[in-house]
Amino acid sequence: MKIDGTHHRTVTMRDDKVILIDQPRLPHTFGFYECTDVERTARAIETMIVRGAGAIGATAAFGMAQAALQASDAQFFEHVTHAANRLSRTRPTAQNLFFGIQHVLAAIEAERDDPAKARAAARAAAQDVADDDAESCKTIGRHGAPLFASGMAIATHCNAGWLAFVDWGSALSPIYTAHREGKNISVWVDETRPRSQGARLTAFELGQEGVPHRVIADNALGHLMQRGQVHAMIVGADRIAANGDVANKIGTYTQATLAAAHNIPFYVAAPTTTIDMACDTGASIPIEERSEDEVAYAWGWSDEGRFERVRLTPSTSSCYNPAFDVTPAHLIRAIITERGVVAPTTEQMRTIAR
Ligand code: MRU
Repeated sequence: MKIDGTHHRTVTMRDDKVILIDQPRLPHTFGFYECTDVERTARAIETMIVRGAGAIGATAAFGMAQAALQASDAQFFEHVTHAANRLSRTRPTAQNLFFGIQHVLAAIEAERDDPAKARAAARAAAQDVADDDAESCKTIGRHGAPLFASGMAIATHCNAGWLAFVDWGSALSPIYTAHREGKNISVWVDETRPRSQGARLTAFELGQEGVPHRVIADNALGHLMQRGQVHAMIVGADRIAANGDVANKIGTYTQATLAAAHNIPFYVAAPTTTIDMACDTGASIPIEERSEDEVAYAWGWSDEGRFERVRLTPSTSSCYNPAFDVTPAHLIRAIITERGVVAPTTEQMRTIAR
């Protein structure tokens, strides 16, 4: 995707460094963050300098390659195993993170007797993860765009755009494709407290792409649906269980329930690397709980041009911050993947899962 006319990927690797678009400062400042070793790469995932399922999957894959490139011959496997364990502990919900780590680890294992070959295999495998993510998301756009006709107002939650992947995005890719095809569509962007990925990142992306959009408070969507101002809703996914239940950003379940109450089609878009056949249902998906400070405070750009944190809640109130929730399959009209648009059923998940 393009920023001010220049194409960028959210995650890349240069030599043995992992390069990330620095997301916490968006939309006010655009810049890059350089991870010089695995510990810094892991910290960048934990602190959400990079976030979004596909983007953290590619970052973890490059982190594995980084570990292989920086390991000595003598301690090669200790170093690589430590990196896999460290990266696996960064965030628990997005399946793509584990896919990325395992894919690179398997390439290293296949060359276990020769560290030089294992390093080259790791670097190539990590690049495969990133390229595959970008290509899958582009295809999701082609498969999903026919669902949107001119005149439709589409709601989305959180950010499942190119900043959440290596390129294109999942939920926003069909919107970008439909818009580029000349369809007159518009997007309701909910703010997505507590980290405001909708208000900050989705609004930024849509603005860069020239897609008409308006940001709304999270709790405004029911009102708009009731008045017939929302024609479809599309979101991403952090993990999809074998029965088609979907874990996504906290609030997704609320929005899906509202969509069902108003008979509005609710779509999920995700590459098949997000499907976890080891989770029978959404109840087995681990749900990350993050710091209560994310609820207690908000970050933003002051009128004086300073990036500032302000407290919202009384200092005596404690907060609770589950980062994801599970939307049951029966609330989802279809799942849009690079392998086609499918019903959220066990049979379909078994057919398309990797
Ligand atoms: O906590 P985040 O920002 O990493 O959450 C992930 C997300 O951006 C959303 O849940 C998104 O809809 C799915 S990831 C493409």
